[in-house]
Amino acid sequence: MNSAYLRPMLISDYQAVFSLWLATEGMELIEDDNEAGIALYLQRNPCTCLVAEFQGEVVGSLLCGHDGRRAILRHLAIRNDFRGQGIARQLVETCMDALTAEGIRRCNLFVLDNNPTGAAFWAYLGWLKLPDNYQTLQRMV
Ligand SMILES: CC(C)(COP(=O)(O)OP(=O)(O)OC[C@H]1O[C@@H](n2cnc3c(N)ncnc32)[C@H](O)[C@@H]1OP(=O)(O)O)[C@@H](O)C(=O)NCCC(=O)NCCS
Repeated sequence: MNSAYLRPMLISDYQAVFSLWLATEGMELIEDDNEAGIALYLQRNPCTCLVAEFQGEVVGSLLCGHDGRRAILRHLAIRNDFRGQGIARQLVETCMDALTAEGIRRCNLFVLDNNPTGAAFWAYLGWLKLPDNYQTLQRMV
C-alpha cells in the first residue's frame, strides 16, 4: 500500500493537477478545464473532487460532481510512477462514500473509445457499460 494522502482538491492545486492531466494518456481536456472552470466546479462539488498527495506533490486526481440526481466522474489520473499502489481505487471509493453522504446513488463516467486500458480498469472495479440507445446533445448556453 502507498502512503499517499487523499484530500479534497483545492483551487490552489490547479496547476499541479492540470500538469498531471496533461501528462496522462486517455485524458480529454476541454476549455472548461481552465482554472476558472475548475474553480466553479470545485465550488459546486467541494467534497467529491479529490487529490492524492505524496510528500507535498499531487500524484493523483479525480473530479466528480452531481446535479442532485446523478453524478458524473471525470479525469481520474494517477502519476505513472505511483500506479499499481491502489491509489485510484482509494480515490474512487472515497468519492463514492462522499456521494453516498450527499444522497446520490448513481454515478456515470465516460471512457474514450481509444482508451481500452482505462475501460479495462473500470470493468475490473465493477462498473457496467450501459447500452447506448440515445444520442448526447449539447448547446452552448
Ligand atoms: C487507470 C488508472 C487510473 C489506474 O490507477 P492505479 O492507481 O494504478 O490503479 P489501482 O492501483 O488503484 O488499481 C486498483 C485495481 O485495479 C487493477 N487495475 C489497475 N489498472 C488496471 C487496468 N488498466 N485494467 C484492469 N485492471 C486494472 C489493479 O490491478 C488493482 O487490482 P487489485 O485491487 O485487485 O490489486 C491509471 O492507470 C491511469 O491514470 N491511467 C491513465 C488515465 C485513465 O485511463 N483514467 C481512467 C479513464 S477515464
